Amino acid sequence: MRIHIQNAPEDPLFAITPRQWEEAARRAGEGEAGHDLSIGDRAEEFAAAIAAAEAVIAPPGALSSLFPVAAPRLRLIFCTTAGVDGLAPFSRLPPAAVLVCNRGIHGAKAGEFAIMAILMLAAQMPTLIAAQSCGRWEPRYTQTLAGRRLCVVGLGTLGGAAAARAAAFGMEVTGVSRSGTSPGITACRAVIPADDLDAALPEAEFLLLACPLTPLTRRMIDRRRLASLPQGAGVVNIGRGAVLDEDALADLLAAGHLGGAVLDVFDHEPLPPDHRLWRTPNLVVTPHISADDPTTYNPRTLDRFFAGLAALRRGDPVPNAVDFVRGY
Ligand SMILES: NC(=O)c1ccc[n+]([C@@H]2O[C@H](COP(=O)([O-])OP(=O)(O)OC[C@H]3O[C@@H](n4cnc5c(N)ncnc54)[C@H](OP(=O)(O)O)[C@@H]3O)[C@@H](O)[C@H]2O)c1
Repeated sequence: MRIHIQNAPEDPLFAITPRQWEEAARRAGEGEAGHDLSIGDRAEEFAAAIAAAEAVIAPPGALSSLFPVAAPRLRLIFCTTAGVDGLAPFSRLPPAAVLVCNRGIHGAKAGEFAIMAILMLAAQMPTLIAAQSCGRWEPRYTQTLAGRRLCVVGLGTLGGAAAARAAAFGMEVTGVSRSGTSPGITACRAVIPADDLDAALPEAEFLLLACPLTPLTRRMIDRRRLASLPQGAGVVNIGRGAVLDEDALADLLAAGHLGGAVLDVFDHEPLPPDHRLWRTPNLVVTPHISADDPTTYNPRTLDRFFAGLAALRRGDPVPNAVDFVRGY
């Protein structure tokens, strides 16, 4: 098969190498399959490869900037991120190709980050670090996580991993998914549909957002919903920035209604230097690093690609094919 990998020049840590490809092909039993592979990170390399390519592996930024283009033989587009909101409404992609997202590889890292963020908020670390930076000795005694209530919005790979870690610390976890189901996730004491979110928020001492950005989730956590969280609640966002009203979050942190927040994702990335979130009290900003472990990312990505390729060859539904209507 004719396969092209387009790497992002601005992201060399996650560039897929020929060696990683060969190792993954061997793991998939395709070492001798004779695939015709090209790898590039410049637009000219993409242009030279795409007319003949049957499958493409690329990050969403490359896909959105390099398509539309004639790709008559293309059958599989493998996006190297789990979120594909940057490609919506998907009309730039060739309609005959299946778009596959990289869902399923981020759980281990995202679960650790989520529980770290919740522990930081529970221990009031943002306040303690602010006091340290001013040389102030201000003891704060805080509760353990056991028995405290967490609401996780989005119960897929990221949210499911976060829920499992939180349950292991004895938290009472309520999960929210679009459908109200969460196949394979057993850590929640209740799972509710997105339509019932309003009932869960006033109970949530901690709110963790781990859902995709879609027409339904854009600004889903608005000012009214943030204000409905109990006094002192903590908020963590590892999904997408535009799910949350950032301005309302900053106001409610500054007013002391919310106790603290950890944001890994933002409406505009990189977060502009003059943005108020940099200076919002009790807020920890991390630059979109919560779910990606560079030592395992590319091998796991390529394993998912080969699984998709095998399904396509068999004529089976391709795992993680994106539903263009739902947007994930
Ligand atoms: N910060 C990072 O570095 C990073 C890394 C990877 C991914 N992400 C983001 O995290 C998102 C989730 O990733 P994932 O791999 O966990 O995705 P996933 O496995 O596809 O899970 C998505 C979950 O979100 C739920 N959902 C969809 N629409 C919803 C709505 N309107 N209200 C409530 N829940 C809704 C889905 O519900 P159903 O089960 O009912 O469909 C599902 O439980 C990605 O789309 C991406 O934007 C961020």
